[in-house]
Amino acid sequence: MANDNYLGNKNLKRSSVNIEWTKELILEYQKCSDDQIYFIKKYCKIVNVDKGLVNFELWKFQEEMIHTFEDNRFSIAKMPRQVGKTTTVAAYLLHKILFNESYRIAILANKDRGAREILSRIQLMFEHLPKWLQQGVLEWNKGNIELENGSKILSSATSSSATRGGSFNLLYLDEFAFVPNNIQDEFFASVYPTITSGQNTKVIITSTPNGMNMFYKIWTDSVNNKNTYSRVSVHWSMIPGRDEKWQKQTIENTSQRQFNQEYNCEFLGSSNTLIDASKLGTIPYADPISKKGSVDKFEEVIPGHTYLISVDTSRGSGIDYSAFIVFDITSVPYRVVAKYRDNEIESLVYPTIIYNVGRHYNYAYVLVEVNDIGQQVADILLHDLEYENVLSTRSKGRAGQNIGGGSGVKYGLGVRTTTQVKRIGCANFKSLVENDKIIINDYDLLYEMFRFIEHNNKYEAEEGEHDDLVMCCVLFSWLVHQEYFKELCDNDARLEVLSSNQKLVEENLIPFGFIDDVWVDPDAIDDTDQQFNKWFNN
Ligand SMILES: Nc1ncnc2c1ncn2[C@@H]1O[C@H](COP(=O)(O)OP(=O)(O)OP(=O)(O)O)[C@@H](O)[C@H]1O
Ligand SMILES: [Mg+2]
Repeated sequence: MANDNYLGNKNLKRSSVNIEWTKELILEYQKCSDDQIYFIKKYCKIVNVDKGLVNFELWKFQEEMIHTFEDNRFSIAKMPRQVGKTTTVAAYLLHKILFNESYRIAILANKDRGAREILSRIQLMFEHLPKWLQQGVLEWNKGNIELENGSKILSSATSSSATRGGSFNLLYLDEFAFVPNNIQDEFFASVYPTITSGQNTKVIITSTPNGMNMFYKIWTDSVNNKNTYSRVSVHWSMIPGRDEKWQKQTIENTSQRQFNQEYNCEFLGSSNTLIDASKLGTIPYADPISKKGSVDKFEEVIPGHTYLISVDTSRGSGIDYSAFIVFDITSVPYRVVAKYRDNEIESLVYPTIIYNVGRHYNYAYVLVEVNDIGQQVADILLHDLEYENVLSTRSKGRAGQNIGGGSGVKYGLGVRTTTQVKRIGCANFKSLVENDKIIINDYDLLYEMFRFIEHNNKYEAEEGEHDDLVMCCVLFSWLVHQEYFKELCDNDARLEVLSSNQKLVEENLIPFGFIDDVWVDPDAIDDTDQQFNKWFNN
């Protein structure tokens, strides 16, 4: 009956068409409604490259995916390429709109085309359903469909404007790890909360890993019980036809690295990272116990512990960040206990923040990088604020620079990041991390570590990324390498430091130690301190 069709499409039923229900049909309809797996296997079609249109015989893990989606509000699937993840979700979504009244779904993919392609798979499945399983069609476009029962699907690229104003029962994010990082962040900050504000909204995220980004964060947070996402993953060998021979061939056609990411589903950072990629993926991070301004605190100060702050300074022009990290150096493993990061701080104000945090952490030693305006920061700290635990270095001047200088030794506040300092610092940071001698804690730092790469024989942030926090660690690691460092960690030995300096002068650059009276009695805390501590602790 032509007039029962939607806009002349004989595969689609228009609205208000009567179905002659028999008892068997009603029972079958009920069964489909109750059992998604039954419905999909019996009535959904997919296109097979060799055989054309075939029944969607779900593989076992695809059935498990559907159970996970159904039983949980939040699901995240980390899966290899080409395992049928998109198709499985498509069939699940079809069931949702057929058997629920006014069910609204948003499909967001990394690209508009991808989102429409998912919708087109649902449309293909729908068109091959018997009419008695269909709902009458009200709208049928490339980007959206609407059915007689009030259910709708909208598809679009993941962006902050994609679903503006809409409220949805189900949000599906496909290939989420491939949405540009800034859009992922923006999406989770602004759109996601409004979409998921309903009590029952479901969220399904599927992707193959793609480095360290929001997808990585949601996955690892779930592993660490920090969110309520249920996880689904599958090993490539569970897909029929994928065996060792297939693996060997695929690696030959791509690379081991690509295979690790796309089929072993490892979260790889940039290639050539300073720290080995397989290590990076295993480093845990923690939520700060408090955030104050731009200071994130991971551990409370412990009386009697020794702390060190390593400081990187930028010009505060909004492009680069000024950053510092507070390390607990009392014992190995060293621990990141607080960090500061800000791209607007003026270099004249910056020392006061270091000063306050330093005093808070038992008058931490401060190592300032003095290549640029860091010099000013070190000077203000020591001379204007009279913070005495600022470390100095002495360096043998380059030939020619110290003629007539007698000893050939120069003294200076802070440390200058020469090629040598950076080389030693990088090598040592790598070994500290890879041997679990440093606890990283901070997500932003870990993020930078994923993007700190070798380029033209030196290590730096990948294009468009930052390395200010990593550089604090590199400086710190350089310091750890100095023989003098162990004296720093040993309270009793602190006063012997100056006398033991003689042999260290042989080295190119060594930390010189402190000006007299380095150790300030923590009992002698004045009002300002108490005020700061109150602010910082609350
Ligand atoms: N159970 C199944 N039986 C037969 N073929 C299947 C099955 N599941 C998926 N396929 C087919 O496998 C191919 C890949 O499916 P799909 O695009 O859903 O995978 P994907 O994991 O989303 O892939 P990609 O990583 O490229 O996004 C498609 O041709 C699909 O029809
Ligand atoms: Mg897909």
